[in-house]
Amino acid sequence: NATVFSMIQPTGCFHLGNYLGATRVWTDLCELKQPGQELIFGVADLHAITVPKPDGEMFRKLRHEAVASVLAVGVDPEKASVVHQSAIPQHSELHWLLSTLASMGFLNRMTQWKSKSNIKQSENGEYQVNDSDVGKVRLGLFSYPVLQAADILLYKSTHVPVGDDQSQHLELTRHLAEKFNKTYKVNFFPKPVTMLAQTKKVLSLSSPEKKMSKSDPNHDSLIFLNDEPNVIQKKIRRALTDSISDRFYYDSVERPGVSNLINIVSGIQRKPIKDVVKDVSQFNNYKDFKDYVSEVIIEELKGPRTEFKKYINEPNYLHSVVESGIRKAREKAAKNLDDIHKIMGF
Ligand code: TYM
Repeated sequence: NATVFSMIQPTGCFHLGNYLGATRVWTDLCELKQPGQELIFGVADLHAITVPKPDGEMFRKLRHEAVASVLAVGVDPEKASVVHQSAIPQHSELHWLLSTLASMGFLNRMTQWKSKSNIKQSENGEYQVNDSDVGKVRLGLFSYPVLQAADILLYKSTHVPVGDDQSQHLELTRHLAEKFNKTYKVNFFPKPVTMLAQTKKVLSLSSPEKKMSKSDPNHDSLIFLNDEPNVIQKKIRRALTDSISDRFYYDSVERPGVSNLINIVSGIQRKPIKDVVKDVSQFNNYKDFKDYVSEVIIEELKGPRTEFKKYINEPNYLHSVVESGIRKAREKAAKNLDDIHKIMGF
């Protein structure tokens, strides 16, 4: 029986990367749901505090916005359980149990704690870690991927729809699943499969050598689901491209900016890159090309933008959705953790 599981951190309204890389897939999965399949989608609020959130009121608002965003992209709460991670204490407990199997070496290879601790990178992108940098890294940030493995394995999940930047964390998850099975001589955890969307990596509009990211202070570099059409158009017009040619083709090395826009359109239209390239070959200047890209994005985000505005003003409804999601998920979490306890001898 397939169990599909994924989460998103509450860091405000989603951006186009979250949407094309992950949450639109969640919606697709709701639409395609088969009998016997279970879908659980959540707000990773415990992960979010690995970058301290000292303002409780503000954090509550972010968590609320995340649930509104999940519903705004079309996740159907009748088909999927929508949960807050912190409301199901078994996540934290399994984190502890798995942390006794996770090696420092494996965690050391993960890149996220390095990027979030502003560790210097060399020209070729390698992190240059020294002892004094490591001394400042907080334990929660370092063990972030173990908590993520716990999230996934708690439900014995089989499929995890995420963007490319989560692939490393999924590798650790499979490694820990296997290590648990081997250590306790059981066949308990399945090895969860990483489900990557066609548009698994949306790049920053202003620096297309890196991914579109919520932590980017330059808001021109990302498109939020609730951006107004004129804002989307302005951001796309400002997007860094090149002056290689007024013919638009895909070449992610030579033309990362143009290729990112083509990739976004291909993701939205669910068309192969080569078909989008054919469509945009009619344009012979950047303005027309970018206006076309804006139009495609604006049209796609119309629904989510309107829905987000609606849901954000329905706190009681959001609350009831999460309450019922949590009730269902807790039952499974409690049962599985009980089994894990038994296996381990508690
Ligand atoms: P988060 O909150 O950073 O992102 C949520 C989802 O959006 C995807 N994503 C992207 N996809 C394509 N292009 C981009 N530029 C882009 N930016 C973000 C991410 O890959 C992710 O799928 N650690 C996770 C949250 C998490 C989780 C889990 C996910 C916690 N527990 C268990 C899966 C299973 C994170 O920080 O995602």
